[in-house]
Amino acid sequence: MKKTLSILALTILVITASGQKADRFVNDLLSKMTLDEKIGQLNQYTGDWGATGKITSDGEKEKQIREGKVGSMLNVIGVDKTRKLQELALQSRLHIPLIFGQDVIHGFRTTFPVPLGETASWDLALIEKSARIAATEAAAYGIHWTFAPMVDIARDPRWGRVMEGAGEDTYLGSKVAVARVKGFQGNGLGNTDAIMACAKHFAAYGAAVGGRDYNSVDMSLRQLNETYLPPFKAAVDAGAATLMNSFNDLNGVPATGNAYLLREKLKKEWNFKGFVVSDWGSIGEMVPHGFAKDEYDAALKAITAGSDMDMESRCYRNNLKQLVQDGKVPVALIDDAVRRILIKKYELGLFSDPYRFCNEEREKAETNNADNRSFAREIGVRSIVLLENKPVNGKPLLPLSKSNAKIALIGPFGKATTAHHGFWAVPFPDDSQRIETLHDAIAAQLDKNASLIYSKGCNIQDNDTSLFAEARKTALSADMVIMTLGEAPDMSGEAKSRSSLRLPGVQEELLKTIFATNKPVILLISAGRPLIFNWAADNVPAILYTWWLGTEAGNAIADVLFGNYNPSGKLPITFPRTEGQIPIYYNHYNTGRPAKDDNDKTYVSAYIDLPSSPKYAFGYGLSYTRFEIGNLQLSSDKMKINKGKIEARVDVKNSGDYDGEEVVQLYIHKLIGSVVRPVRELKGFQKIFLKKGESKAITFTLTPEELKFYNDKTEFVNEVGEYELFIGDSSLASLKSRFTLNE
Ligand code: NOJ
Repeated sequence: MKKTLSILALTILVITASGQKADRFVNDLLSKMTLDEKIGQLNQYTGDWGATGKITSDGEKEKQIREGKVGSMLNVIGVDKTRKLQELALQSRLHIPLIFGQDVIHGFRTTFPVPLGETASWDLALIEKSARIAATEAAAYGIHWTFAPMVDIARDPRWGRVMEGAGEDTYLGSKVAVARVKGFQGNGLGNTDAIMACAKHFAAYGAAVGGRDYNSVDMSLRQLNETYLPPFKAAVDAGAATLMNSFNDLNGVPATGNAYLLREKLKKEWNFKGFVVSDWGSIGEMVPHGFAKDEYDAALKAITAGSDMDMESRCYRNNLKQLVQDGKVPVALIDDAVRRILIKKYELGLFSDPYRFCNEEREKAETNNADNRSFAREIGVRSIVLLENKPVNGKPLLPLSKSNAKIALIGPFGKATTAHHGFWAVPFPDDSQRIETLHDAIAAQLDKNASLIYSKGCNIQDNDTSLFAEARKTALSADMVIMTLGEAPDMSGEAKSRSSLRLPGVQEELLKTIFATNKPVILLISAGRPLIFNWAADNVPAILYTWWLGTEAGNAIADVLFGNYNPSGKLPITFPRTEGQIPIYYNHYNTGRPAKDDNDKTYVSAYIDLPSSPKYAFGYGLSYTRFEIGNLQLSSDKMKINKGKIEARVDVKNSGDYDGEEVVQLYIHKLIGSVVRPVRELKGFQKIFLKKGESKAITFTLTPEELKFYNDKTEFVNEVGEYELFIGDSSLASLKSRFTLNE
């Protein structure tokens, strides 16, 4: 104990000392800087590709870099390119290096499953490792900073950006945010394999009205604080170096000019010491928002609110000097923003060696790295969710046998390559050669006495049915069919909101045509968001939701099809029955007129034309084996508000035929509150492995901290009273107990 304390004291001492050194260095540098040079540090430009907004080509970027008028670049990939620009930056009067930022969202050179897919693994260690590897690869290519993790809570699958986050739940989202920040930043900035994380988009971007990207957000401060801000707070507490503004207005004030978010919450209440970058052009966009009169006014509002770096709008570059000269912006405000950025450059080690991320040897070693690819397969299998596995001839269809079968693979993803990458994959010219197709991956696993035939059937997105006849013939000549359908990579992601979430084009028609052959069908769905496929869900015996799994999609899917890995994924977001149910999420309120069940329609909160329940619930996912969760016991039925705790224990038994992993989930419900409380709230989960026939007791610890919520004065409080507690394998968990929180 004594030893631990002295190590802790020593660590604090070292951190404080190096913090003081950084402060001294940066203050000294600041004192030498002209106003133009300071404003230059707040200016970020894009490189030559990867635009997600208007590119202003002024033909002068390189000159400006030489003059010290640019602080950071994005979309510049590769050691040769970053080195060239860094050399220009070092020609500036004070030789201040550039920071290179990039959207490293789900892998870099090796593409991992999209973040929503990875979250379905509920495996925080793996999620952290995925970010770690992505950081290592990106750093090897000269990148210092990723614009990730996206920690926006998203309850609306029409919003294309659901694919980039951790889904609908605040508790799970906060845990995943921490894992990703830790992964990107590794053992700390200053290590050449650590890159700065950027928690985005601050804030409430995921609640865009109607699920339409960039749209307004209007919500109570209570809801904002309770549901949307905690993942940001968790990321900040985990040491996230930066945050990014969101495009939306929040209760009428654009997030980029929102002093409540940036000054009050982030920089004051949370004591955030990093810097805030705008989203692409979002400072200038305060003009069309109708919040700023012109770009001069936009720059004033953004810097005053607390936005430190301007990504691509040029509002700071063109207006900050004038604003200072006009007496509207105190230099101290600019100094604060510049200091925050310079400190990060210092922490990254760029002042001692601006080229420390420019190592050609390292870059080469990170291309086609076998370990990273095998990790992509490992996290790929764990991201897959088994939605259906009904018996055919008395036996669940999956897993498939590798012998004695003639299998037909049908669908536009069968021989696809980069379509499995999905949105935000960093494109490289040789990408498609690095990908083993699903077809080849399945073929590679089959025994000699089994065979695979293939037919594309249709394209992802058009109305062409001319390949149907051939696909039908292929199905008829096989014993069973694996159908692979889904969304094209540009159908979920930024600016990819959809009003219809059905399988695009004629894919469902193709599915019905093949199903009519009476061959057993296994359906694979590749997508970035929850799609709606009710006919398939009700008719097709086996369905695997495979998201967009990345470089190793083919092998990962084949592993699950043949039972090399027993699927354990659980949905991190609710799957609706129709678009009309959206927004739909598990932790809603009860209302004053709750329906008893899906058939209860008389003057209760329900739809007269469809059940209120979702198609697939949050936390849901099947396994090839069967888990029984029972014998719930609480260590006490009372918890003291001060330092109390309760342990909830259950027995989990693998009573099926396969070894496997289960995600055991704990939910609470506060029965009465000074504000109404959700019908369920996730407050714990554990992923465990059990061999066939094995049992294990697992214990969750609940403390008053997990029971806190925001009251109507936006205070984070505990309130005494009665709680229900549920444990099970999804948000529908039926095992239940009760306890009270007492003074
Ligand atoms: C706009 C997106 O909203 C943001 O997430 C991304 O990081 C930037 N563009 C940079 O590409």
